[in-house]
Amino acid sequence: MNTTVVITGAVSGIGLSASKQFLAKGWNVMMADFNNDLGQKVYKELSEQYSPEQVAFAPCDVSNAQSVDDLAKAAYQTFGHVDSVINNAGIFAKGAVHEIDEKVWDRVMATDVKSIYLTTKAFVPKMIERKSGTIVNTSSISGLQGDYNMAVYNAAKGAVVNLVRAMALDYGKYGIRVNNVNPGPTMTPMFKSNPQSVIDEFAKASPLGRLVKPEDIARTMYFLASDESDPITGENIPVSAGFEI
Ligand code: NAI
Repeated sequence: MNTTVVITGAVSGIGLSASKQFLAKGWNVMMADFNNDLGQKVYKELSEQYSPEQVAFAPCDVSNAQSVDDLAKAAYQTFGHVDSVINNAGIFAKGAVHEIDEKVWDRVMATDVKSIYLTTKAFVPKMIERKSGTIVNTSSISGLQGDYNMAVYNAAKGAVVNLVRAMALDYGKYGIRVNNVNPGPTMTPMFKSNPQSVIDEFAKASPLGRLVKPEDIARTMYFLASDESDPITGENIPVSAGFEI
């Protein structure tokens, strides 16, 4: 198989699980993350576990245009073509609107929303030429609802909820499908930073009585990136153990 995926935020949590999922399915994986130290470590482990030709790591800040362009260059140089981009890198900040520092607001919006604009500019032209490709963005159930004390995250993930529709409309004629996965509370380093009592409360609030595992999201990302999900496009797919219903 010679199918290539670029995954951002690939060295921790959901992105790491997604990287393993695609590798196990035989895809080439270009892992991108701004955590270079962890990236080199994870890359070494995965290239030993799978074929070293199948996996690569590029340090990349998804909120920076030059860095994303460098990622695209590295991906095309290493694998020749890119079939799918998983926009997974994302950050979170707490607070009501008036409590959020301007720099924090800008950083969350740049990491969670502008990053999709930048990766699309970098990767979609060649997908248009090839008349095929898939893009999977990572929104959240926090994009579908309001949460207390999470204003900038609600704003960012809500923007991604509607951005996917515009992208699906604009790129459908080129055979490019674009979808969102909307995770519920998922047991990753980001979520585990909450106190245990909060984690337990979240689990109790789900009809299934459990939190989501990174592998649950990774499987859905694979589904949305691969032909298995044809002809789904422009959709938001919650993977949440029913948390938000
Ligand atoms: P995580 O914190 O475990 O992993 C995020 C990864 O993104 C890290 O490796 C980090 O280094 C990287 N990253 C952050 N900013 C970056 C930047 N500017 N450039 C490149 N890489 C960057 O987080 P987790 O939980 O795996 O989250 C992944 C995605 O899922 C995020 O978009 C998050 O908002 C979303 N999500 C997570 C939920 C959860 O409960 N864990 C729930 C809903 C959505």
